[in-house]
Amino acid sequence: MSPEQIAELRQKHYNATVASIRWVNPDLYAIRVRPDYRIPIHKPGQYSTLGLGHWEPRVPDCQEEHPKPGDEVKLIRRAYSISCPILDDAGKLLDVTGTDWLEFYIVLVRRSEKGPPALTPRLFALKEGDRLFLGEKIAGHYNLDPVQPGDTVLFLSTGTGEAPHNYMTWQLLSRGHTGKILAACCVRYRQDLGYLPTHDELMRRYPHYKYLRLTTREPENLNQKVYIQDLISSGQLASILGKPLDPDHTHVYLCGNPKMIGVPSIDKATEEVVYPEPLGVVEILEKSGFKRDAPAVKFKGNIHFEEYW
Ligand SMILES: Cc1cc2nc3c(=O)[nH]c(=O)nc-3n(C[C@H](O)[C@H](O)[C@H](O)COP(=O)(O)OP(=O)(O)OC[C@H]3O[C@@H](n4cnc5c(N)ncnc54)[C@H](O)[C@@H]3O)c2cc1C
Ligand SMILES: NC(=O)c1ccc[n+]([C@@H]2O[C@H](COP(=O)([O-])OP(=O)(O)OC[C@H]3O[C@@H](n4cnc5c(N)ncnc54)[C@H](OP(=O)(O)O)[C@@H]3O)[C@@H](O)[C@H]2O)c1
Repeated sequence: MSPEQIAELRQKHYNATVASIRWVNPDLYAIRVRPDYRIPIHKPGQYSTLGLGHWEPRVPDCQEEHPKPGDEVKLIRRAYSISCPILDDAGKLLDVTGTDWLEFYIVLVRRSEKGPPALTPRLFALKEGDRLFLGEKIAGHYNLDPVQPGDTVLFLSTGTGEAPHNYMTWQLLSRGHTGKILAACCVRYRQDLGYLPTHDELMRRYPHYKYLRLTTREPENLNQKVYIQDLISSGQLASILGKPLDPDHTHVYLCGNPKMIGVPSIDKATEEVVYPEPLGVVEILEKSGFKRDAPAVKFKGNIHFEEYW
C-alpha cells in the first residue's frame, strides 16, 4: 500500500492520539490516549475500544499472520478496560476532571492458540504522538453501583485485569469509602506488576487499603504456586481482612483470565449449574453464599466479573 493510501485510511478511521506510554516491561505498558472529542461520561470499571488498521506495522517475534484479500484496509478493534494512575505527580488522588486522556493497561500477546493476535502486536509499535481509533462508546456492567460506603470490597485479578480495579479504587477513595478495600493481582513475574509503587503508596496513605501481589513463575514459585482461588480456599483473605468473608456486606470483583473467574454454564438437559475445571473463584464463593451478577435477567449479586477472553 502506498504512503498516500495509508495516510488517507488513517485520516478516515483515526480519532485519537497517543498522549504518552509508560513501559512496564517490553511486553506490558500503560498508554494514555487523547481523543479528538470530549471524553464521554462513564463509570470506573467500564471499557472502551481501541483500534488500528491492518496496514499498520507489527512488532517482530509475533505469530505470523496470513491476511485474506481485502483485510489490508480493515480496522482491527478490541475492548479495553479503562485504567487509572490513581495518584497525581504530587501523590494526591488524581483530579480526573482535569485530564483529557484515558489510560489503558495492555499486555502484548505474541501468539495465541486461536490464531495470530491481530491488535496488540500493532499497539506495541505505537509511540507518543501516533494516531489510532478510540471508540466513542464507553460501556459495560462492571461498576461500583451496588457498593455501600461501609462494605468490604475485594478486587481480584490476573495480569492486566487490575486495570478497571485501579479506576474503581480511585473512585472508592475519592468518595470516602469507609469499608475495607483489598486488591489482589496474580501475575507470572514480578516485572508484570505495573502499578506496584502506586499500590504501595496507597497502603501508606490509606490504612483500610491493602494490595496483595502474587507471582507464579519466579524461582520461589517452583514448588509454591498460589492462585487467587487459593487465597480464598486457604482462609488467607479472611485472615488479612480480620473476619470471615461476609456475603451480606462484601462485594467481590473478578477480572482477567476466565479460568481464574470460572463462570459456570447451565446444562441444557438437566438445567443444572456446571462449574468449569479447573476450580475458579465463582464456584468457591457461590458455595459460601455469594451470588454472581446475571445481567441477562438484570440481577445484581455480590460477585461481579469481567472476562477478557
Ligand atoms: C471487556 C474487555 C476488556 C478488556 N480489557 C483489557 C485490558 O484492559 N488490557 C488488556 O491487555 N486486554 C484487555 N482485554 C483483551 C483485549 O480485548 C484483547 O483481546 C487483547 O489485547 C489481545 O488482542 P489481540 O488482537 O492481540 O489478540 P486476540 O486475538 O484478541 O486474543 C488472543 C488471545 O490472547 C489472550 N489474551 C487476550 N487478552 C489478554 C490479556 N489481557 N491478558 C492475557 N492474555 C490475553 C487470550 O488467550 C486470547 O484468546 C479486554 C477484553 C474485554 C472483552
Ligand atoms: N507476562 C509475561 O511475562 C508475558 C511475556 C510474553 C508474552 N506474554 C503473553 O501475554 C499474554 C498474557 O499473559 P499474562 O501473564 O498477562 O496473563 P495470563 O496468562 O492470564 O496469566 C496471568 C496470571 O494468571 C495465572 N493463571 C493461569 N491460569 C490460572 C487459573 N486457572 N486460575 C488462576 N490463575 C491462573 C497465571 O499463572 P501461570 O503462571 O500458572 O500461567 C498468571 O500468574 C499471554 O498470551 C502471554 O503469552 C506474557
